[in-house]
Amino acid sequence: MQPLPDPATSLRALEEALGAHAAAYALDWIGDCDSSNTELTNRPLPSDDRLHVLVADRQHAGRGRRGRRWQSWDGGSLTFSLQWRLPAGGTAPAGLSLVVGLAVARALEDCGVTGVQLKWPNDVLVHGRKLAGILIELVAVQGRPAAAVIGIGLNLHLPDDAHIPDQPAVTDLFIELGGRAPDRVAVLGAILGQLRALLDTYAMAGFGALQGAWEQRNAFANLPVSISGESGSIHGTCIGVGDDGALCLRTAEGVRRIVSGDVSLRPDTGGPT
Ligand code: BTN
Repeated sequence: MQPLPDPATSLRALEEALGAHAAAYALDWIGDCDSSNTELTNRPLPSDDRLHVLVADRQHAGRGRRGRRWQSWDGGSLTFSLQWRLPAGGTAPAGLSLVVGLAVARALEDCGVTGVQLKWPNDVLVHGRKLAGILIELVAVQGRPAAAVIGIGLNLHLPDDAHIPDQPAVTDLFIELGGRAPDRVAVLGAILGQLRALLDTYAMAGFGALQGAWEQRNAFANLPVSISGESGSIHGTCIGVGDDGALCLRTAEGVRRIVSGDVSLRPDTGGPT
C-alpha cells in the first residue's frame, strides 16, 4: 500500500476533482479522529447551504449502525461524513438513508463498478457482498431534528488478512474493479457529486422521486427475508419500498411495513411467506 499524502494535499486533489462544483461544499480533510460522525456532530451547525464534508484518513473509533464498530485501514478505506441541513426542519426525514445509499451506488456505477445492489435501509453491496456502510445521525436544535450527519465508510482495498466481525461477506473496490487500484479522490468526488444532486431532488420532491431508482437496485427484490429488530423477527417476501422509504414485506398475515431493523436473507423453505 502506498503511503498516504498529507491531508492538505488530498484536500487540494479533491477540490481539483470537483472543479467548479467545489464551491457547493465546505471541505475539510484531517489525518485522524475517533469518528468523523462524532467529530462533525460536535461542530456547530452550518450557517449556509453548502454540504459540509469531513474526510478522515484514519478513525480510531469508527462507528457502525446499531452500536457496532466500523473498521477501516490506512489507505485501504474511505471514511468521511457530511452535515446536511434538513429542508423543512422539525421532522425526521423519511427515506433519507435510502437516498444516501442510492447516491453511493450511482457513484460507484459511474466509476465502473457493475452489479451494485442496495440492502435496505442503506448497505451498499456488490453481488451480495458489502462494499460500503452508511450511518446517519440527526442533530437536534431545541428538541427538533435540524441537520443530519451522514457518515460513509467504503472499502477501497482491504488487507488480505482483514477480519471483520459482524460482516461475513465483504468486498472492496480493488476486487470489483478487476484488480485495478481505485483512485480514492475520484471515488469521493463522484459520491459527493451524486449526493448533492440526489439530496437536492429529495429536498424538493421527497423519496418518492427516487423510489424507482432504489427499487432497481434492491438486493432482495421478491426474495424471502427476515427482519430482526428489538422486538423479534418478521419473515416475509420483500415486495419493495414505500414512498416514505419503509420496507414492504408480504407475510402470512398480509403486507407489513417495516421502518427499522436489520435485513437478512433467509433460505426459502417453501413455507408460506
Ligand atoms: C454500517 O454499515 O454499520 C455503517 C458504517 C458507517 C461507517 C462510517 S465511516 C465514516 C463515519 N464515521 C463513523 O464513525 N462511522 C461512519
